[in-house]
Amino acid sequence: MMQKNRIINLLETKPSPIEISIKGWVRAFRSNRFISLNDGSTIKNLQCVVDFENFDENLLKKITVGAAIHVYGNLTESQGKGQKVEIQVSKVEVLGEADPEEVKLTIISPKRHSLEKLREEAHLRIRTNTFSAVMRTRSKLSFAVHKYFQENGFNYMHTPIITGSDAEGAGEMFRVSTLDQKNPPLDENGNIDYKKDFFEMETNLTVSGQLEGETYAMALGKIYTFGPTFRAENSNTSRHLAEFWMIEPEVAFNDLDQNMDLAEDFIKYVVNYAIENCADDLEFLENRLLQEEKSKPQAERSEMSLTEKLAFIGENNFKRVSYTEAIDILKNCKPNKKKKFKYLITEWGADLQSEHERFLVEKHFKCPVILFDYPADIKAFYMRLNDDGKTVRAMDVLFPGIGEIVGGAQREERYDVLIQKMRALDIDEKELDWYLDLRKFGTAVHSGFGLGFERLVQFVTGMGNIRDVIPYPRTPGNASF
Ligand code: 4AD
Ligand code: MG
Repeated sequence: MMQKNRIINLLETKPSPIEISIKGWVRAFRSNRFISLNDGSTIKNLQCVVDFENFDENLLKKITVGAAIHVYGNLTESQGKGQKVEIQVSKVEVLGEADPEEVKLTIISPKRHSLEKLREEAHLRIRTNTFSAVMRTRSKLSFAVHKYFQENGFNYMHTPIITGSDAEGAGEMFRVSTLDQKNPPLDENGNIDYKKDFFEMETNLTVSGQLEGETYAMALGKIYTFGPTFRAENSNTSRHLAEFWMIEPEVAFNDLDQNMDLAEDFIKYVVNYAIENCADDLEFLENRLLQEEKSKPQAERSEMSLTEKLAFIGENNFKRVSYTEAIDILKNCKPNKKKKFKYLITEWGADLQSEHERFLVEKHFKCPVILFDYPADIKAFYMRLNDDGKTVRAMDVLFPGIGEIVGGAQREERYDVLIQKMRALDIDEKELDWYLDLRKFGTAVHSGFGLGFERLVQFVTGMGNIRDVIPYPRTPGNASF
């Protein structure tokens, strides 16, 4: 019932003499006769035909791009191509006018600089074809995430946003405090006394729900989180946000191989879901990308179209490669030998940068890659140590155009090994005693991973900058709206 008068449904309805009404925003008004109306339900517009002779001139003047209108009329067979029906308008009400000059500056797409400009125009950004297509796809992908996990027996867990622990041990956290910043209470050593703060301890916004997720997985068996995550890393790149959404499944008794199987199956499912349920928006985004690529030199254009790329993910196995094998490939590859990489790979143990990840995926294997068994030194403290004593059961899923889309691991379930590692890294045992306790009471092998939701949306929509796939991007210097 609620869906009845939305353009997505009207476009599939047969012509009829019965009067209907529809509300939306004007996308174009041509020849004082054809209004293209969009209501956000689909990328497609409904054509509304006005016999201008029968309408007040002053009213018609107010029908400008961006205005909100209420149209009455009946559906007739359309003469125009690309649409089966249109509305023969009997009455129009202008609900909200829009200044045509101001709109003109922003609603014109699809050039790259205008995407940046649009980030400053909160109200108009989502009225463009590009952003509405991206955000509808984002919404569908969110649903697919829940659908996948719910249908596979996972419990959705809400992990805390405010926490006292640094789950990644990387120190990239936003402090949460109600202390007077100008005049904070000090302890006997002259340091800020967080015992006097709201939570009587130092707290921050979460960088990951994993540690809390582990305790639930070790009782409920299978859990997943899907919520906002915060990182105070000063990375001004097209793949980093200070506030992003992460999906973190955690499964009791899964080892790393099963963890990789889960990640691959899950990603394939959500990508296929988008192919099946976002066809109109993806078609628009594919054409947008083709236009954008025309301005690039041939060598930089992608070999596959957006939909071919998405289909490829669903149809092909991800290549699983150990870190050690990957280092051998990278050490001997052309861009490394010719010193084309910014960070040259000289020895085992090097941390991989996005240029290396993308080389492996885009040039060497030409398919998504799962790298596993990384050096312990470059990975987080909670990953399970291998028998070689120097690598851990970590895995990263690397995607074309994106680089790392998933990071995960089999967790260190052995109390003694975990505590040794924490001591070596100077991680406060008291702060994580609850996490350590999990290893004392019915410990077992378990694994999980985190997928950056915006990186997934970026991949599916083909958008080049992560800021353009989240409604209100938070990045260094940007948080006002
Ligand atoms: O690799 P990360 O840091 O892993 C974790 O946080 C683990 N605790 C996950 C787990 O095992 N449960 O982050 C996971 C993913 C990355 O692969 C990336 O896709 C995304 O989160 N990510 C970001 N996305 C946008 N902006 C940022 N600043 C991101 N940092 C990480
Ligand atoms: Mg990572």
